[in-house]
Amino acid sequence: MDTLSQIRDLLSKDLSRYEDFIRLAFKHEEDFIAEMLDYLIEHRGKGIRPILALLMANIHSRTGAVSQRAYLVAMIVEMLHTASLVHDDIIDNAEMRHGADSVNARYGSHSAVVIGDYILAKAFSSGMESGQFDLVNYITRTLKTLCEGELIQTNVSNSLDMTRDKYYDIIYRKTASLLGTCCGAGALASGADHTAVAVARQIGDNLGMAFQIKDDLLDYAPSSQTGKPTCADLKEHKITLPLLLVLEEATPEEQSAIKDIVRTIAETGEGIEKIYALVERADAVSHSIEVMESYLNAARSMIKTYPESPYRDAMLSLCDYIGKRSF
Ligand code: IPE
Ligand code: IPE
Ligand code: MG
Ligand code: MG
Ligand code: MG
Repeated sequence: MDTLSQIRDLLSKDLSRYEDFIRLAFKHEEDFIAEMLDYLIEHRGKGIRPILALLMANIHSRTGAVSQRAYLVAMIVEMLHTASLVHDDIIDNAEMRHGADSVNARYGSHSAVVIGDYILAKAFSSGMESGQFDLVNYITRTLKTLCEGELIQTNVSNSLDMTRDKYYDIIYRKTASLLGTCCGAGALASGADHTAVAVARQIGDNLGMAFQIKDDLLDYAPSSQTGKPTCADLKEHKITLPLLLVLEEATPEEQSAIKDIVRTIAETGEGIEKIYALVERADAVSHSIEVMESYLNAARSMIKTYPESPYRDAMLSLCDYIGKRSF
């Protein structure tokens, strides 16, 4: 059994309760709205965020079980993630997600924008109706950060003026902050104190940095493997860590030649092989993996401070999985 299946097995009872929450939230009496929501449920991703929330809720549980609060967290974080992917595919002009048509490709961008908004609205209203305001407040603050990440990324992709600091800032805001929130909110759901919530959050932040670096590496992999378009980042003028490492070592002339290629890739479709060759020559993939591993190691050492339990072990396995995942 692969790592994720083993973790799902460990969490099977909690995941099935979470599933009830999600199914209820994605119901609609209007057929065409229900169809889009069903499409999203059918073509789902890995579910890393609810898994993180449930593992952290279990690690911090004082009773040996987790409460409804943990299922609420798991549901809300996955809804925020789902909405952000629906919007992300519109922004990134991506026609494929999870090996199938993206929502914008299937239903058009107009409906995709609004169904993304609908899922966000539903996540908020479910949270408010639950009365668990500490959790809702903790989770929804992150939404602002996700939007900032996207806006900063768009701004940099217009200027191509990427630096290491900007790259880390973008991936923190657009991805790591939500994984941090999953872990922090999972701990909070089980009544963890302020310090424990902050530690859980830091673990998720580090996992999230590694997660996005891996995603950026996977952008160079074939779409038959990832279920997403290949080289989508380059086509959207996004300079991610592998190419950034090449640019850092290049002369000013080489840098402007590389940026010229990035500027025209989407229009001409030419130059991708050149970028691949540069990344390969600079050993930029291995160097990116080293950076990713440093974030995973930071997470691992904090996870090891938790008392031994199957949930702690599962968090450690998840670190390995994030580093090795192929989609
Ligand atoms: C994709 O996240 C978007 C990023 C933050 C990189 P996931 O890879 O967790 O998405 P799914 O839900 O499993 O497809
Ligand atoms: C993650 O970035 C975006 C979100 C946080 C929604 P990407 O744009 O790289 O995500 P993928 O590769 O399309 O899943
Ligand atoms: Mg994007
Ligand atoms: Mg994208
Ligand atoms: Mg990506």
